[in-house]
Amino acid sequence: MNPPLPDLTDRTDIIRLVDTFYERIRKDEKLGPIFNDIAKVNWATHLPKMYDFWDTVLFRSGTFRGDPLGVHARLVPWADMGRASFEHWLVLFRQTVADLFEGTNATVIVRSAEDMANVIYSKINNVPDPRFDPANLTPEQKARYATYRGT
Ligand code: HEM
Repeated sequence: MNPPLPDLTDRTDIIRLVDTFYERIRKDEKLGPIFNDIAKVNWATHLPKMYDFWDTVLFRSGTFRGDPLGVHARLVPWADMGRASFEHWLVLFRQTVADLFEGTNATVIVRSAEDMANVIYSKINNVPDPRFDPANLTPEQKARYATYRGT
């Protein structure tokens, strides 16, 4: 058996995760060209921004300033920003987390990435998010939302 992996505990772990993830993204056949050739990402500024982003998501550092929806929406005319691209991004992200970490925060960061991938994908492509379709709500959710509407 392999020794157990550590969980993410601080910004140093975020940095290791982000660096490893974007090393893989840059070399990826499908996503690499979107970053390298289409967006022509400046890695010296993008990587620290992503440290701040994940540090804010996981440890509430509050250091991230940006416009994730705008940035991805601007890519839609130039790159394939469809469901398959987001699924592929998530496969790489899940794999990177799983190779380096395990534990509660490792689970939380993957769940957060999945949620944000859904939101970004839906918003930039004008696809209604099926989770928020009233037809898909459980009776409990419907009852709960009905109480919000009244107030
Ligand atoms: C198809 C999948 C995706 C592609 C191709 C993609 C590509 C990009 C590119 C090219 C940039 C711009 C970098 C720059 O010009 O500086 C960017 C920024 C960013 N991405 Fe993504 N991305 C994807 C999915 C995601 C997901 C799922 C998340 C969140 C979980 C995410 C979070 C961010 C954030 C926070 C930024 C910085 C935004 C800002 O500068 O304000 N991306 N992405």
